[in-house]
Amino acid sequence: MLPVIIIRIAAPDGNTQVLFPAQELTGFCYTHKTCQAALWLHLTCIFFVINCKTLIRTVMNPIKFYQTQPIPLELHKVRIVQKLNLVPLDRRLLAIKDAGFNSFKLSTRDVFLDMLTDSGTNAMSDNQLAAMMQADDAYAGSQSFDKLQKAIQDVLGKKFILPTHQGRGAENVICRTFIKPGNVIPMNYHFTTALAHIMAVGGRIAELLHDDALKLQSDNPFKGNIDIEKLEKCIRKEGVENIPFIRMEASTNLIGGQPFSIRNMMDVRKIADKYGIMIVLDASLIGENAYLVKQREEEWKENPMEEIIKMMTSLADLVYFSARKLSSSRGGAICTNRKALYQKMEALIPLYEGFLTYGGISIREIEAMAVGLYETLDETMIGQSPEFIRFMVNGCMDKGIPMVTPPGVLGAHVDAMQFCDHIPQEQYPAGALAAAFYLCSGVRGMERGSVSSARDENGNEVLADVELLRLALPRRVFTLSQVMYSMDRLEWLFHNRRLIGGLRFTYEPPVLRFFMGSLEPVEDWPARLVDKFRKDFGDSL
Ligand code: F0G
Repeated sequence: MLPVIIIRIAAPDGNTQVLFPAQELTGFCYTHKTCQAALWLHLTCIFFVINCKTLIRTVMNPIKFYQTQPIPLELHKVRIVQKLNLVPLDRRLLAIKDAGFNSFKLSTRDVFLDMLTDSGTNAMSDNQLAAMMQADDAYAGSQSFDKLQKAIQDVLGKKFILPTHQGRGAENVICRTFIKPGNVIPMNYHFTTALAHIMAVGGRIAELLHDDALKLQSDNPFKGNIDIEKLEKCIRKEGVENIPFIRMEASTNLIGGQPFSIRNMMDVRKIADKYGIMIVLDASLIGENAYLVKQREEEWKENPMEEIIKMMTSLADLVYFSARKLSSSRGGAICTNRKALYQKMEALIPLYEGFLTYGGISIREIEAMAVGLYETLDETMIGQSPEFIRFMVNGCMDKGIPMVTPPGVLGAHVDAMQFCDHIPQEQYPAGALAAAFYLCSGVRGMERGSVSSARDENGNEVLADVELLRLALPRRVFTLSQVMYSMDRLEWLFHNRRLIGGLRFTYEPPVLRFFMGSLEPVEDWPARLVDKFRKDFGDSL
C-alpha cells in the first residue's frame, strides 16, 4: 500500500499552503505560487490537485508495480542512521546463555535487528526532534504542557489531562483510584502491566473475547472485539457494584495486536450505559487500531483517521496511553472530559509521577509527544508498520510458517505452539523459540506466552492462552531487506524446528517475571542448533 497525496489548493488567493510527500514529513510548506513550479519537478510522484479551501489529506492507495509483486513502499527517507552489528554465532550462543535465555536481558551490543518491542523504539520525525529544542523546562506551568494539552484535545478529544511517566504509571493511578479488593474488570484482553496493577490492588479480570479470537489462524478482522453477550452475563454474575469499569485495549497486544471495531465499541457503550459502568480505553495502539478500522470496517472506509480516533475516544469515559507507543516518544497520560473523574485521580500524580505539568516525563519528550500525537493522524506514517507486518506475515504463511492471522499491529506474531508442537507448554515453547531465533539470526524478538503470564493468587503456574514469538516492527525503523532477512532465517529455523527444545526457570521474580527472570534449556539443544547452522551456512554470520 502506498499513499497517494491529495493536495487541495484554495482558490487562487496565494495564501493556502500545499504539502508534498517529503515536505509533509519534514514540515516544510510551499505557498500556492511556489508550488506551481515545484509540481512540475515532482511529476514522478502521484499527485492530484483538487481545488478547494484548506484541507490537506493523505489516503493510502495500492500502487501497482510493473513486474514485481506489490511491496510496501517506504514513504520516508532515512537521514539519521545507527550502525548495527551482527555478531558471530559463537558470541550469540554465549550472549543468550548469559541472558538466561531471556531476550529482555540481551545487550543491544549483541543484537542485530531489535524486534523486541515498538515501545520507545519507533522512529522519531524531524518535526518531533525540532520541537524538542523548544522545550520550556519548568517544574510547574510549563508551556510545553499547554501544547500537549492542546494536542490531546485536538487528537483524542479530551480536555482534562494527567501526565504520567509511561503507560503503566497511568494504570497504577487508575487502578488505585477506582478498584477495590474483590472487584472485577471485564475487558477484551489483558496486557501484562495492566493485569499486574489490577492484581496489586486486589482486583481480578474477566477476558470476554469471542470464542474464535484465540484461534490464531483466522479471517476474523476484529479479534479484539468484546463478546457482548459474555459482557452482559459477566455484569449480571459479578454485580454492577463490583465492576468499577470495563477496559478496552485498542489492538489487543498479547493476542497478536488484533483490533476491535467501532461497531463493537458502540455496543459495549450501550451495555455500559445500561448498567451505569464507565469505560476505560487503553489507547496505546489506537492509531493502528484506527488504521485497521479504516481498512476493514465498511462504514468507516471513507472517514479520515481523525474522525475514527475521535469516535473511539468519545465512547470512553477515561482514556490512557503509553506515549512510548502512541506518539513515538516517552511518557504517558490519562485524559477525560469528566472533571469529577479527573479530580479523583489528580492527587496521585504528584505522589507517584511528578508535578501535574510534567508527570515524570522530560519536558523535551512532552514537546515530541505533542507533535507525535498529530502525526498519528497521518495514514502514511501510521500505516507503515501494519503494512510491513502484513508483508512479513503473508510471506511467512506462504512458506508454511504458522503465523497469527489476520496480520495485526505492532509486530508479526509467530504461533510458537504450532511451530514447536513437540515442546510441552510447561517448557515455554515461545520462550524457546525466541532464544532459538536469536541464535540463528541475531534478531531479538519477545516471548508473549506463559513466561509472560503471572502465577495465580495461590502461586500456581497459569499457562497462557497463546504462545507467541512477537517480532516487533516499530514504525519506520527497519528496511524491507532486513525484514526479508528475518523471514529467511525464520524459514530455516522452521525447517529445523525439531532441534529446538524446552526451557525451565532458574530464577523467577514474583511480579512481571518475564522482564528479569532467567531460564535454562532442559537439555543441550542450543549446541545442536548451532551445529546445524554451521553445516548449512558455513562461516556465514
Ligand atoms: N498498554 C499496552 C497495550 C501496552 O502495549 C503497553 C506496553 C502498556 C499499556 C504499558 O505501557 O510500557 O509505557 O508502561 N507495551 C510494551 C510492549 C511494553 O512491548 O508491548 P508502558
